[in-house]
Amino acid sequence: MEKKYFIETFGCQMNVHDSEKIAGMLRDLGYVEGKTKSEADIIVFNTCCIRETAETKIMAKIGDTKALKRANPNLLVVVCGCMTQQKGMAELLKKRFPFLSLVIGTHNLEEMEEYIKEHNKKFRAVVWDNEKAIREDIKMYRTSDDNAWVNIMYGCNNFCTYCIVPYVRGRERSRKIEDIAQEVENLAKENKYKMVTLLGQNVNSYGNDFKDGTNFVTLLKRLCEIKGNFKISFMSSHPKDFSFELIDFIASHQDKMSINLHLPVQSGSDEILKRMNRRYTSAHYKELVDYIYKKIPNATLSTDIIVGFPGETEKDFEDTLDLVKYCKFASIFGFVYSKRQGTPASTFENQVSAKVKKERITRLFELEHSLQKETLKNYVGKTYDATIVKGDKGDELAKTHFNKLIRIDAGNYEIGREVSVLVEKLDNDLLYGKVVG
Ligand code: SAH
Ligand code: SF4
Ligand code: F3S
Repeated sequence: MEKKYFIETFGCQMNVHDSEKIAGMLRDLGYVEGKTKSEADIIVFNTCCIRETAETKIMAKIGDTKALKRANPNLLVVVCGCMTQQKGMAELLKKRFPFLSLVIGTHNLEEMEEYIKEHNKKFRAVVWDNEKAIREDIKMYRTSDDNAWVNIMYGCNNFCTYCIVPYVRGRERSRKIEDIAQEVENLAKENKYKMVTLLGQNVNSYGNDFKDGTNFVTLLKRLCEIKGNFKISFMSSHPKDFSFELIDFIASHQDKMSINLHLPVQSGSDEILKRMNRRYTSAHYKELVDYIYKKIPNATLSTDIIVGFPGETEKDFEDTLDLVKYCKFASIFGFVYSKRQGTPASTFENQVSAKVKKERITRLFELEHSLQKETLKNYVGKTYDATIVKGDKGDELAKTHFNKLIRIDAGNYEIGREVSVLVEKLDNDLLYGKVVG
């Protein structure tokens, strides 16, 4: 009988894509995809530790597999991803979950195939301290329908004071332009993906490690030469490195470049931005936003915001609300600040109480909601890329890449298909449109 795998993924797109590599390795070993954990011969938890809530949830899920292991002693339970890379975590996992088979760090994830082959029923933790050369020979098993994730770089050098990513993902390493171009060319030949999303913690610093003047725009220029029926998008960007040159490039290559831009601002207060070590001001951020809307009037912007960073006063928070009013974001990913061990901000004084954090996140979402009508009005008369999704009533809707639902004439489109939709009207907070391509 065929052996089955089940991968549960937490965290960002980087992890979603890593899971495609894990699936590739497991298939290489002869496993096939299982539908549930209980039918699996190997369960892999690809973890995230960006906030405490993520970690708590994952710990509970790992704990739940104890019963499955008891029922099937041959079951392999593997934990990998960002959580495992924290100091002392492998030992802690072993202590809490003695039934685990393997714990694998982020720097040696791509060796998973070997560890599974060598596994002899004894617990084993392999977490390398440092990053290694980038491997180009991993076969991946892509799982997202019309979108293909492509890593352009790994790691992060920014050390925002709240963030654990640089500690668990290592320093920035860029993939070579030709390796990336080769991957995108192969995807274009498959003619299956309408979107190629370039991934990095800060894609705008792509190429800095080559020290030869290569930058993110150099890469985009090369990728835009590739013929095919797909668009290019990217995430995430850092406002300190998001250049006017990049905005000009996107503006003049809209046939190839997605114009839904994710630009995390984190806070609207200069004092907080300084203590977050973000290295830009709210004025600079607004200047970028103005220039984006000027050069690309159809552009939609999304952002990440942290509320309740240590020392955040009511005034600081109001500065964030003011910035939100100014920027006309299509969507906001709002987070309550979470203390992460080993990061500078976890030792800062004046930690904000849970009560105030909760109240501020509620106010942020209320503001977003109250601005929605104006934002939605802006979409009428414009055409956007969207994916066909199933609505609550089983009908088909078009969901834009900035997560807005548009009602269309249902009945003709497969779920998951990428389309272009012209927004025709706004009625009772609902958008209506028609598929034009
Ligand atoms: N490299 C990307 C993504 C980082 S993680 C970037 O810089 O945009 C995604 C988001 O999680 C961040 O943008 C931030 O808003 C949030 N985040 C990171 N650390 C956090 C913490 N300690 N508490 C709450 N939110 C956090
Ligand atoms: Fe974290 Fe900042 Fe790096 Fe993003 S840029 S991963 S928020 S340290
Ligand atoms: Fe989480 Fe790691 Fe991404 S900590 S947000 S999965 S880089």
